[in-house]
Amino acid sequence: SAESGEALWMRYLKLPSDLQSLYIPYAQVYFEEGSSTIEVAKQELAQAFVGLTGVDIKFQKKPFKCSLLIGKNVNQFWNIPDIEKNLKKCANEGFVIRSVKRNGVRRIIVTANTDAGILYGTFALIRLMQTGCPLDSLNIIERPKYKFRLLNHWDNLDGTVERGYAGRSIWWNRKETLDALKHQYLTYARANASIGINGTVLNNVNANPKVLDQEYIEKFARFADLLRPYNIKVFMSINFSSPVIIGGLPSSDPLREDVQQWWNQKVKEIYEAIPDFGGFLVKANSEGQPGPQDYGRSHADGANMLARALEPYGGIVMWRAFVYSPSGDDRAKQAYDEFVPLDGQFRDNVIIQVKNGPIDFQPREPFSPLFGAMEKTPLMIEFQITQEYLGFSDHLVYLAPLQKECLDSDTYVKNEGSTVAIVTNGTLFKHQYSAIAGVANIGRDINWTGHHFAQANWYAFGRLAWNHNLKPEDIAREWIKMTFTHDSVFVESVLDIMMRSREAVVNYMTPMGLHHLMGWDHHYGPAPWTDIEGARPDWLPRYYHNASEEGIGFNRSKSGSNAVSQYAEPLCSMFNNPKTCPQNLLLWFHHLPWDYRLSSGLTLWQELCYHYYRGVDEVKLMQKKWDRLRGRIDDERFEHVQHKLKVQVREAKWWRDACVLYFQTFSKMPIPYELERPE
Ligand code: GCU
Repeated sequence: SAESGEALWMRYLKLPSDLQSLYIPYAQVYFEEGSSTIEVAKQELAQAFVGLTGVDIKFQKKPFKCSLLIGKNVNQFWNIPDIEKNLKKCANEGFVIRSVKRNGVRRIIVTANTDAGILYGTFALIRLMQTGCPLDSLNIIERPKYKFRLLNHWDNLDGTVERGYAGRSIWWNRKETLDALKHQYLTYARANASIGINGTVLNNVNANPKVLDQEYIEKFARFADLLRPYNIKVFMSINFSSPVIIGGLPSSDPLREDVQQWWNQKVKEIYEAIPDFGGFLVKANSEGQPGPQDYGRSHADGANMLARALEPYGGIVMWRAFVYSPSGDDRAKQAYDEFVPLDGQFRDNVIIQVKNGPIDFQPREPFSPLFGAMEKTPLMIEFQITQEYLGFSDHLVYLAPLQKECLDSDTYVKNEGSTVAIVTNGTLFKHQYSAIAGVANIGRDINWTGHHFAQANWYAFGRLAWNHNLKPEDIAREWIKMTFTHDSVFVESVLDIMMRSREAVVNYMTPMGLHHLMGWDHHYGPAPWTDIEGARPDWLPRYYHNASEEGIGFNRSKSGSNAVSQYAEPLCSMFNNPKTCPQNLLLWFHHLPWDYRLSSGLTLWQELCYHYYRGVDEVKLMQKKWDRLRGRIDDERFEHVQHKLKVQVREAKWWRDACVLYFQTFSKMPIPYELERPE
């Protein structure tokens, strides 16, 4: 049922009647014939239109009496000069939507340079209707900011999902036939097309070498066939040792001729099955995965070998920079130290994939200092949509503010305004390729993402990948209306809940720049005290919080690990000084005494307590606001979210109490009196 969340934001339920009457005049449609991409766009429009308005579209063979014209060549009928000019700005995947009025007749033109552009333009028009926008004065010109907008599925071939909290893999180890699952895959494809996602990596970065066996190449090919009309390319994660493990070669040394030949042959096989295959994603010499360093070679040697094999077909290599070893003094510095010296050594079709922060998808991190530091190499950004460190699919956390904070961060590498967004979208250093990836939160749960509100994170990631200038609140408002209802009380309350949620989780888990306090292997719940014999020190929370009677925090200033020096000025100096370091990153960059005075006049200990308590208060407020909304949507989803919020409140307290009480064993200071009131 629609109430199960299965239809995501494509529910197409009847709009309020005033909106219906705005749209019904556009039911006479001329939709230019074309490829299967055009066909799916046309079907989508038909389905959306009748759902939203109750009126069936009449597709016409001739354009002249139509009120809505969609196609690459439709402007030939009206010759509006602007449209030709604007189409030049749309590049390959962009579109123009334009309302025109001639001889008293209103029309809408949706046009583009490619079928993909028509697909995205059609979905944009549908979204305008779903969100209740008037259509009589549209003048929209859009093109995506990133060339590759990707989901990364951490799905294992055995059907489990690494850090997946919404059931098993939608791709692997299923008993049902592809035909039986077609509806589900098409929903996935439509959802992605509706937000502009144009690529998907179907298997875990911790890649099983078997994925390169003929059997799996064929499976990838079937998925590629299903996704192709929706302008979605498939990509594969590979294991660097595949030549040894499945190829029977004595070595996987990237400089060996036979190894290069093996990859050339494999890539040829893949392209025979999937002519538009996207390329490889590679996790190498990271967390125990094999890589070129096993043979004394560099990341560039490894990436270039694969890039050479893919080049003739237009494929790319996304080589991850998520590297760290227990030997260094500060994990946060290692990716930079390893990769910056390689700038200029990568082939043109290699993109370095960098996580948003220097550690690992924490509730708040500064941006990774790699952004901006490799002028000659395209760097792509990787966000995590699945909430590995943010309460799994149990906590309501809207991630767009986190992503936006990172994308908008100024790196200052060229001059002011060198934001992470324009470093990664290719404009600052003029790179041919640009890409953005999100680690998917999708599984076989009926509602796809476990928590209904986690759907918003899939949606928002796609919208920001299309246009990082969008505001998180605008994206949220769209999503709420499309997913739930136009009821303005509901929309505004839920918007408020969503916009509070990210800072709330930072506060009840890791305020003021703290990080990595969670249970060390499952990553759920607090465990700042963990001590495990023989465990890697950099996997334990103490490595990061360094709490003692002296104080708390990681000294990354010049007197400590000097990670600050990886940032350009004026950031370096600003982070280096606790007086100018933003308070929300204070303990990321500094180790400070418990009685350190903050600008608020409070001590560090007091301020920390306030943040933890505020985090819980915020979740309680979110819960209270939700509880008032009963009856405004279906009971099924209302109660599901209500239950999850109950869990979240309980666990926010768990985080707060665990952390505050543990840290108190060092600070030996009382919890501020006004915070200690009975629950
Ligand atoms: C995190 C996560 C791992 C994952 C890794 C990665 O460390 O816990 O499960 O494999 O990131 O991004 O490669």
